[in-house]
Amino acid sequence: MLEVSNVDTLYGKAQALWDVSLRIDEGEIVALVGANGAGKTTLLNAICGLLRPASGSVEFLGERIDGLAPHSIVALGISHVPEGRRLFADMSVSENLEMGAYVDQAWKRKEETLRQVHQVFPILKERGGQLARTLSGGEQQMLAMGRGLMSRPKLCMFDEPSYGLAPLLVAEMFRIIKGLRDQGITILLVEQNVRHTLEVADRAYVLENGRIALEGDGKSLLQEELVRKAYLGL
Ligand SMILES: Nc1ncnc2c1ncn2[C@@H]1O[C@H](COP(=O)(O)OP(=O)(O)OP(=O)(O)O)[C@@H](O)[C@H]1O
Ligand SMILES: [Mg+2]
Repeated sequence: MLEVSNVDTLYGKAQALWDVSLRIDEGEIVALVGANGAGKTTLLNAICGLLRPASGSVEFLGERIDGLAPHSIVALGISHVPEGRRLFADMSVSENLEMGAYVDQAWKRKEETLRQVHQVFPILKERGGQLARTLSGGEQQMLAMGRGLMSRPKLCMFDEPSYGLAPLLVAEMFRIIKGLRDQGITILLVEQNVRHTLEVADRAYVLENGRIALEGDGKSLLQEELVRKAYLGL
């Protein structure tokens, strides 16, 4: 479904990604893990069009997408739920969700999609009229994810969805992500919660200093010496 090939990215003269290749098949949860500053967010930005790779290519459903504008990439079926949520703080929950449906195909079906999103996140229905900035941290994360789903994505990229959540909510978040996969949405999951992530991921990549250091299925990466030492403290 998605094929990132030999991507380098630059911030001015500073190189953040080096020869990164990654593949996502339809129906998978693929995890991308790595330390602070490894380049995880940079890679998501290179996929969703916020950052243009200096070299290499990104293909989605057989079509080259690097160089396309972010809104065109959303329209093709990739949704990005950014780090830090980036909600419209002074708009209501319902208005934030509606903003996620601003692509042609999704706009026509927004009532139907809204019902589906409310099924996944019932709290967003209950809080529909409330301003986004008055939600709790966990509710804000759910709103960010719900808004991401409003564009009816085929591939959804989540950047650290468990960040700042209490343990019970973290478990709930991973349950929801698995549920989305079971509904047919392919997922690229960036996380620092490595143990949980590798348990739910079909496959995973470890990014170190802008390079892919390891890849494999989630369960076998949990056994890898590098992962156990560097990310699980074992
Ligand atoms: N806008 C920018 N301008 C310059 N350098 C940047 C910019 N954004 C990121 N970087 C640098 O690129 C590298 C990768 O950053 P990135 O945000 O992709 O890491 P990350 O893996 O997402 O980290 P975290 O887990 O802390 O979110 C870092 O060295 C960072 O300082
Ligand atoms: Mg990041």
